Formats: sequence, structure tokens, C-alpha cells
Amino acid sequence: MTRSGITRRQLLVATGAATLLSQVPMGFALGRTPIKAPAFIEDLIGKMTLEEKAGQLTLFAAAMQNGAAAAANPVTATSAVTAQIAAAKAGQLTGVFNSSNVLYHERLQKAAMRSRLKIPMLFAADVIHGFTTVFPVPLGESASFEPDLAQRTARAAAMEASAVGIDWTFAPMVDIARDARWGRGVEGAGEDVLLGRRMAQARVRGFQGDKGLDDPEAVVACPKHFCAYGAAEGGLDYNTTDVSERVLRQTYFPPFQAGFDAGAMTTMASFNEISGIPATANKWLLDDVLRGEWDFSGVVVSDYTGDEELIAHGFARDGRDATRLAILAGVDMSMQSGLYLKHLPDLVKSGEVPMAVIDRSVRRVLQLKAQLGLFDDPFRRIKPQAPSRQRLPETLELAREAARKSVVLLKNDDDILPLRSSGQRIALIGPVAQDWDSTKGPWTLFNGDDSGSDLAQGMKSAMADASLLRVVAGSGYATALAGGIQAAVEAARASDVVVMAIGESRDDSGEAHSHTSITIPKVQLDLLDAVAATGKPVVVVLSNGRALALDTVVPKTKAILVAWFLGSSSGAGLADVLFGKTGPSGRLPVSFPREPGQVPYYYDHKITGRPDPKPEALTAFKTHYTTIPNSALFPFGHGLTYGRPEYGALDIGDGKLQAAGTLEVRATVHNRGDRAAEEVVQLYVHDRAASITRPIQELKDFRKVAIAAGGSAEVRFTLRREDLLFIGQDLKPTVEPGVFDLWVAPSAEVDGLHATFELPA
Ligand code: BGC
Repeated sequence: MTRSGITRRQLLVATGAATLLSQVPMGFALGRTPIKAPAFIEDLIGKMTLEEKAGQLTLFAAAMQNGAAAAANPVTATSAVTAQIAAAKAGQLTGVFNSSNVLYHERLQKAAMRSRLKIPMLFAADVIHGFTTVFPVPLGESASFEPDLAQRTARAAAMEASAVGIDWTFAPMVDIARDARWGRGVEGAGEDVLLGRRMAQARVRGFQGDKGLDDPEAVVACPKHFCAYGAAEGGLDYNTTDVSERVLRQTYFPPFQAGFDAGAMTTMASFNEISGIPATANKWLLDDVLRGEWDFSGVVVSDYTGDEELIAHGFARDGRDATRLAILAGVDMSMQSGLYLKHLPDLVKSGEVPMAVIDRSVRRVLQLKAQLGLFDDPFRRIKPQAPSRQRLPETLELAREAARKSVVLLKNDDDILPLRSSGQRIALIGPVAQDWDSTKGPWTLFNGDDSGSDLAQGMKSAMADASLLRVVAGSGYATALAGGIQAAVEAARASDVVVMAIGESRDDSGEAHSHTSITIPKVQLDLLDAVAATGKPVVVVLSNGRALALDTVVPKTKAILVAWFLGSSSGAGLADVLFGKTGPSGRLPVSFPREPGQVPYYYDHKITGRPDPKPEALTAFKTHYTTIPNSALFPFGHGLTYGRPEYGALDIGDGKLQAAGTLEVRATVHNRGDRAAEEVVQLYVHDRAASITRPIQELKDFRKVAIAAGGSAEVRFTLRREDLLFIGQDLKPTVEPGVFDLWVAPSAEVDGLHATFELPA
């Protein structure tokens, strides 16, 4: 409730609610100042043949890949190791990706050093959430609401990856994802623009480090996929998007801008079309906006065969046409199709592509290599003899910290959690209980041995008497196990409490893994039903790469912990939280809707002309479904602690944000419980009337604070005029005077402390 005793929704309806918001980072420059090419680069360009130039713009998957790396992409033209070495020697290959084999990198680099112009090669990889140490999937880590944590895990991943010669990561994925059916939401920061921006910035800083790109432990970042890939219709991967320029500027661009502002020197064109023009051939996107408006001086790489796919899109007639369209639109480097190598020389000779266009792209690539220090020492990251930097104890400890901070407690009836580590008989049931492979999540191509990371192991190590833990799978992820339910029920009956490790497997999300439904598979729900029927208290530990609709799960459980895919220290991190060594402190970075049919659902939606005054009453002719209100079951930002946070006083001074000034917001949060709490205090704002309709609420800031049992914390936010920017009718950022609602709250859709303030004319 608000302080005046009415709910947030009622208040918005009563005030005639139209809304605002979105922070529009304006693309200010940090690390984006165009670099003047050093004279030696101009010199090189002058000496290069057309074929060598095309080679510098051509990237292929490594012919010698390790294990799962080969499985990450569809198989296209593969090249033999000898052919790849020969291409390097001929100066016709700019680099390769997704090898973690330092010796192969060394062989290729040596071959490049024997080429005519000795241009060093570049080694890239999908280092998405860790390298040999696996950190929580990015969506899970974003639940920490701790950008600093994301920066530290990215740094550690860069340290490990660079130690085998990797210069460039195809990360972070910064696509805003609002449709839980889309499998790739797991790779990003979720649905919110502000959280997306902060995580993008943190991850870029982490990957690149603060010592300059030539630092041997820096890897250059690649915010991807540019752009609006997450807006795929129906949540279907690779599908069409039709997004207005306003929504692009307001929602999808800002995390990219944040990444570039943090110094990211590459980006990847997305697979999708945007309103009829594929991103890979979208001059407006890649040239006018990215280069022109934002002054981006780095390298644009296509996605995997993205240029060739222009043909399937029906945008290019053939490979030659696709090459011409992609290079002229601003794609500097072609990944995996080989089209640039094949067609660029001829396109230049025929005059269809000016030499200056090729030279511009080559210059960007060579500049990047120079920034990475590769011209000074092509082997600066290739040190086969150096002491191992993989899975150092401190990196694994960081993985454990990240794991426990990513966990979100959705409910905790009767304070069933934390569990007691002694004297309590526990049944651990479900397909995830002993599946360490799944805890790694999608996009883990290079990881080391995580066999100790499952939940059963983690719990056993945390318990005084491990014999009090009974472990039963009960079912597979999607198929029943013979006798599984019976064994589970017996284990439950013989225990005081049941922990059910259920949900999705790592193969349920990631690229090309969209779902039509966002529920727990039926066999696991049957298992839950049977176990719950024993009357034993049930704690669900959910494995998931997306928001799930948990309407059928909630009534059968005392507690639910969202555990995503937590990586190398999954079991230990989860046990820390389950047994209360640390409290849960994560918050949902995506709204969990009531039912699957609500997707795409996101908290900062528009209000409509017929907002629902009392959602549970389902008032006729208002904006709701016939059977349920259109609100979340667990909203964005939601997450409980083992303490009892209570929102107290709110002070916003005179309530006026003067044009050149700020509005200081001070809120007091008490912890009325007898255990410590880490509360994520969130600031939401709503513009009551604007020349463009604005969302019902938007996150403007957040702060994670530790509050001792019985203690209080004062949280301060500073709201600035630019926090109220939105994309106006002229498609330019604007701020309009008026009255704004402000909430300091524990989540979206939950009333905390409310006040109004004014932005005077
Ligand atoms: C994905 C990219 C990835 C690339 C290289 C593509 O299929 O969309 O995110 O970086 O493959 O593995």
C-alpha cells in the first residue's frame, strides 16, 4: 500500500495515468573517440592486395575446436586444420573463434607471422558466463542486482580466456528480452532497460579491464546482437521483429550505448530483420546511428553466416549481392560464410563497392588489432608455458559468491527456510538433484570439471550428518522414470522436509531453444503433486533459464528458490543459501507471469485507455484477461530475504526537481526480523501526462543494502532531470515538465513508499 492507503494501481488509475520513462543514455563518449590510424596501418593498407584485405575481413570457426565448442553452431563449411594454417600464411584469414587450444593459436599465429605482411591474427570466443570456471548464466547473475559482481566475474573470465590466447569475447549479450518463450533471454540481463544498461557496462568493463586493451589479460568486448534480436515475434529465435524507431531508441538501444560508453570496441549485427530490413544489411542502424550518431569507431562483425542469410531473408539475390549489401551497410567483418573472401575483390573491381569502403573496414580491424597490442607482440596472450590461470581457488570462490547472490527466494511460508544443517531429515528429489552437467547452463563451451557442483553434493557438504539426506531423481526432465514417483514418495515420507530440484535442463534455453510454453514439464508437476500429497513441507529449488509461470506450483510449496543455472559452484552456493550460511539477496530480473498466455509480459508496460482499477475484481471492459488480471505472479524486482524488511519514512524535500538541479530521495528501511537481510531498494517513477504515453512505472535506480536484524538503513537516491528523458514525438530525447509519481519499493507492482514530485516548467 502507499502511505495514503491506496494501491499503486488505483493511484495511477485515479490520476488518469499516462506515463513515462526510460533513461536514454545519449551515447556520450568514453573510449569511443575515433582513433587516428597509426601511420604503419595506412602503410600496410597501401601494400595490401584486395585478397589480403578481404582476408582481414573474414573470420572462421577454428578448425581445431575443443569439445562442445563445435556443437554451439550449425555446421557449415568446415575447414581442415592444414587449410586454415595455409590461409593464415597467405594472409587471408583475420582470425578464428571458439578454440580454447593455446597450441593451435600458437600455430596459427606463427603461420601469420610467416605471411607476406605479417599481420597478426585475432582469436575470438563465446566467453558468455565464464571460461573454464563457469559463473551463473548472465540472467541469473543479473538477479544479484550487483553490477560490481558482474564486472568481477567478467574480469575473471577474461583472465582465464586470455591465458589461452583469446583476444575477443562475443559478449556481453545485451538484448532486452521480454518474451519468456525466447530461449536466449538466459544470455542477457532480462527485461529492464536500467538493469540492462548497468550490467552491460559492468560486463564490458570486466572483460576489457582497466589497464587498456593491450593488457595481456584484457579481452575486447562485443555487446550483441545489434539490434532488437530479443523482440523476435512469438519469442521464436531468429524470427522477424517489427519495432518502431521510438522503441528501438528507448528500449533496445540503451544497453548497447552503455556498453560502447564503457569502451566496447566491437559489436555484432543481429540475425533478425527490423521492420523489413535485416540488421546485417541495415545502413540506418549500422552507419547512421551507430557510426554517425554514436561515433562508434570499432568493428562490426556479422553473426554466424548472418550475411549469407540475407539470401534466405529474401533481401539479397545471391552471395555476391549479400556481400555487397552487408559491407555497404557497415558490416566490417564476415563471420563464417566466407562470402567476403569470395566476392569482395570482384565487387571492388567492378566498381560496385568502392575501395574506400573496404579500406575503412580494414582500417578498423587493424586498429583493433593494434589496440589489443597484437602488432607489438602477436603472442602476448599466447603463452603455452605460463603457469595455469584456469580455475584458481579464488576464481572458484568467486563462482560460489556469484552463485549464492544469484538465487532469488520467491516465497518462504512459515519461515521453512533456512533449513537446519543438523537434526533434520531431508529428501532431495528431482531430475536436477544430481545433474551437475545441467547446472552449467547453455553456452559453456570450455569449462573444466564441474562434477562436484550438483545440489546433492553441495547439501551433503553443508550437513553435519550427510546420511540424513536421501536423494531420489523421481523423474527425468520431460519423461517419467519407472518407479520414480514411488521412490520419491517413500523418501519424502521418511523425511522431515523435502527439497525438490525441478525445472528446466540446460538444453531448454539458449540459442534455437525457444519454447511454446513456459511451464515446468508435466512429468515433474506429477512428481511434485505426489510428493506434496504426503503432507511433508516442500521447498522447490527451480532450475530455469527464463521466467516461468508457476501458478500450479505455488500452492504446493512452502518455499521456492529460483536457482537458474549457477555454474561451477552451484551446489555449494545453493547450500549456503538453503542452510542460511548467507541469506538470499537476488531479485527477479524478469517478471514471472501468472500464466503462460500473458507473454510477452514486462513490468513497465503501458497503461492503456482502460486500466484495471482493481485487478483481482476483473472489472468489465477493463484491461485484463477474462480469467486473470494482467499482472505478474512474482513481479520484476521481487525477492525475499530471511529478514523482514519494512519500508518506513520517505523524504523528498520540497518535491521539486528544478531544471538544473536534482531531487534527493531518502527512504528508511527497517529489518523487523531476527535475521540479517540484504534488501534491494528500488526507485520507480511514473510521468502522469506526457506527449508520448509512458509506462506504468520505470526503474530509475536501485541500491542493495545489508540491514542487521532489528536494524535500519537509510537509502539515498539522487534523481536528475536526465532520468526523466523519453523519446519524444520528434524521436529525440526530451523531458517535459509535469507531475511525477515516485515509489521506493521492494519490487515493481508492489507498493512501497509513495510520493509525488514536480518538474516545474
Ligand atoms: C550466435 C552468436 C555467437 C556466434 C558464434 C551465433 O549463432 O548468435 O551469439 O556469438 O554464433 O558462436
